Amino acid sequence: VIDIRKLYGQGDVFTYDPGFTSTAACDSAITYIDGDKGELLYRGYPIEQLAEKSHFLEVCYLLLYGELPDEGQMKDFEARVTNHTMVHEQMHYFFRGFRRDSHPMATMVGVVGAMSAFYHDSTDINDPWQREVAAIRMIAKLPTIAAMAYKYSLGQPFVYPKNALDYPSNFLHMCFAVPCEDYVVNPILSKAMDRIMMLHADHEQNASTSTVRLAGSSGANPFACIAAGIACLWGPAHGGANQACLEMLREIGTVENIPDAIRRAKDKSDPFRLMGFGHRVYKNFDPRAKVMKESADEVLDLLGIHDNETLKVAKELERIALEDEYFVEKKLYPNVDFYSGIILEAMGFPTSMFTPIFAVSRTVGWISQWKEMIADPTQKIGRPRQLYIGQTRRDYTDVAKR
Ligand code: ACO
Repeated sequence: VIDIRKLYGQGDVFTYDPGFTSTAACDSAITYIDGDKGELLYRGYPIEQLAEKSHFLEVCYLLLYGELPDEGQMKDFEARVTNHTMVHEQMHYFFRGFRRDSHPMATMVGVVGAMSAFYHDSTDINDPWQREVAAIRMIAKLPTIAAMAYKYSLGQPFVYPKNALDYPSNFLHMCFAVPCEDYVVNPILSKAMDRIMMLHADHEQNASTSTVRLAGSSGANPFACIAAGIACLWGPAHGGANQACLEMLREIGTVENIPDAIRRAKDKSDPFRLMGFGHRVYKNFDPRAKVMKESADEVLDLLGIHDNETLKVAKELERIALEDEYFVEKKLYPNVDFYSGIILEAMGFPTSMFTPIFAVSRTVGWISQWKEMIADPTQKIGRPRQLYIGQTRRDYTDVAKR
């Protein structure tokens, strides 16, 4: 705690906390994390129980409204989401303005930001009904937008949503179906996708969620706020870690190369870090990583992939790192991204789609947090302060005298 008045004679007592390592910026009743125990609860329910017994759309309902739905509420919610899966036809032209080789995250930032130009009737944040419609639109349309970004990058035609399918199957259908061929969604892949979505649905005040809240605190419309969240998620220290992690595992290649990777990760003069390792809050196992590891085994087994070199490298890397003094001392454990890439690759996704899938899954968390903030009558614009370390006051000099 620094008395800022002593520094430049104004204001109040300020805290200086770069990276917000010990500052709560809001109160929230949505997600609870105990980083020391490795515990994650959505609205009080443990993530392990939800991953085993629930499904993604039910988790969406839970995060948005605070309670698990009864049968009627679930049916109604599913119908409302399904009703909104298509995107405005004009948006197809918007996609076509991008280069084909754009990263799908780049396309998504632009297209989601542009939603506020297409859906004017759900941008008034003071109207609770418009906020509700915006939330449903976002949850319903993000899979369509991510799949369109993917199809566009492949040079293939867009695939419209098939609303007879459930949420994860519909997403897989839009990504993998091609004209002139029948595509039947593999139920194993659909279940695995559903689980990945549940595990990524919310994670309290991480960088992208805080970005959404900060953008929203100015009264910006919800589509603009979610676009800001997507932009933040893209970074390799956050959601981009799932792509970076699989690329790292591939680069390591074989178990013989692991000791060298561990050596590099410990060397402070080398920027190399073990991607998928470490977390700001978890100083124990990330509970999502445990479920993800089991899922990786299950999915590869069910798909008949028994000799996956990347999975072998991942498991051995985890084993060696967890016995290494450096990682033990710094409490660095695998995080959610360590195993997710292996599952997504087995499903047929290229690495460039890993972070868009994270964005699709996290949309419900972002929008739930945004709704919670807007409904709070004590909410203020987010406005961090700074410690100024620049020049003291000085007079302007004419260019001839510089
Ligand atoms: N490999 C090697 N060393 C590491 C790693 C790693 N993955 N992560 C942290 N460290 C070291 C740091 O060098 C630092 O060492 P020092 O104390 O000697 O300086 C110490 O552990 C603490 O690390 P910080 O970066 O200060 O911790 P912070 O909480 O700021 O960062 C983060 C957390 C960004 C997740 C970090 O662990 C990291 O970069 N991990 C790799 C990227 C990753 O997997 N990100 C996904 C996070 S989960 C998510 O967003 C869904």
